Amino acid sequence: MKAPPGPGGLPVVGNALSLVRDPREFYDEMSAYGDVVSYRLPRMKFCTVLHPELIERVLMVDYDRYAKWGLEDFGGEFAPEGLLLTDGDQWRRQRTTIQNAFTVEQIRSYGDTMARCAAEMVSRWDDGEEIALNRAFSKLTLDVLTRSLFDLRLSEEADVVTEFAETLNDRGSIDGISTFLPMWVPTPENRRYKRVLSDFRAFIDRLIDERRGQADEYDDLLSLLLTAEDDNGNTMSETELRDQMVTFLFAGHETTSLALTYTFLELTKNRSVRERLDAEHEAVLGGGTPELGDLNDLAYTEQVIRESLRLYPPAFIMFRKATEDVELGGYWIPKGTRITLPQFYVHTDERWYDAPERFDPSRWTEEFEDTLPDYAYFPFGGGPRHCIGMRFAMLELKTILPTVAQSIEFELLSDPDPELDMATTLRPAEDIRMRVSK
Ligand code: HEM
Repeated sequence: MKAPPGPGGLPVVGNALSLVRDPREFYDEMSAYGDVVSYRLPRMKFCTVLHPELIERVLMVDYDRYAKWGLEDFGGEFAPEGLLLTDGDQWRRQRTTIQNAFTVEQIRSYGDTMARCAAEMVSRWDDGEEIALNRAFSKLTLDVLTRSLFDLRLSEEADVVTEFAETLNDRGSIDGISTFLPMWVPTPENRRYKRVLSDFRAFIDRLIDERRGQADEYDDLLSLLLTAEDDNGNTMSETELRDQMVTFLFAGHETTSLALTYTFLELTKNRSVRERLDAEHEAVLGGGTPELGDLNDLAYTEQVIRESLRLYPPAFIMFRKATEDVELGGYWIPKGTRITLPQFYVHTDERWYDAPERFDPSRWTEEFEDTLPDYAYFPFGGGPRHCIGMRFAMLELKTILPTVAQSIEFELLSDPDPELDMATTLRPAEDIRMRVSK
């Protein structure tokens, strides 16, 4: 069997320069080679997969032939023992335990906190005030997460978490060549990353220490992590505990915050969508706070969120590594090859979406969803390792969007088509600035 085709690269750096210069253009060039395309970055062999059926093979059908890998390989030392990056038995054990904090019942109980946090944020804004929407939502989703999963109010200490999230994003940015250098190279980014990660870990250790001894009094993720035992009666190690907290504090707030930011950005640009959304909120909620019973009736709100996650998938690319030689789409992929599954590219492929660049929530009809191949849309990943926070995030988005939209109109002050930075998440390169009108 043959190796996948792909663009030739330079010695040593491979295709890194083209990727850094313009990731989207680089993927456009790669797609000319087919649906399984090979390329090279310094020290690593890559292969990108662009067809939904083959993405399903990697994430679902043959998932145990591929391992997770992420920031570690770029030297990020993020949270190697946290749920996002563990593998095999350790991952299975962790996932089974942590799943208990994400049952339908548990998640429903977080709905009130979500609405309350959003209402508090809105009440703090003054009419006519100018805000950086991305920063406001980042604080809000952090507040929601820490109150519901860790029963903590971090308002005064939020900076240590947001600084960590920003630094992690900088460290993982595709358009910084230092992303591809190992951690021991003393670049300014590496030095800053190490310092901020160490502050952040110290902060988490303190939170864990404070809760120890009183874990039984709380019914949240932190207590669950402290008390859960595996089949042999062992609790999680110190490192596992800390890495779970690092993982959830990052994965659980930055992604949802970006989804809210891009949704409101598109609403300011698409008047008719905003009007239809307002009409649905008026009909279903009549100015009130969304409650669980209302959520099924917010069908258009859900379409708006879906469309936003299609055009701006906060987790815009997924990474795997072949743990054995595999066949994929008729090609031979040797063990150790890094596989990328790029949502940002597949979600705008003309084979599956008409006018893919247009923000059009009404495309999400039942008929359309029936014909759309599985894995042509996968903002939350897929297979056994799909996002454990998916239901939490959808509840949060469906609660916060109407709560904010019913009291606020935004006037966009910054670029309507902001440059997007492909960092650890798909973040705006500049703040999204809005004027609040109450
Ligand atoms: C719009 C919001 C969100 C998006 C787009 C998103 C996206 C994703 C994606 C694509 C994955 C799969 C990564 C992979 O397999 O390589 C994932 C996994 C994960 N997400 Fe989310 N996520 C969101 C919200 C959340 C929230 C709210 C939480 C926590 C409360 C969370 C926690 C996690 C964790 C812990 C994993 C790893 C699961 C595992 O490997 O077993 N995410 N997420």
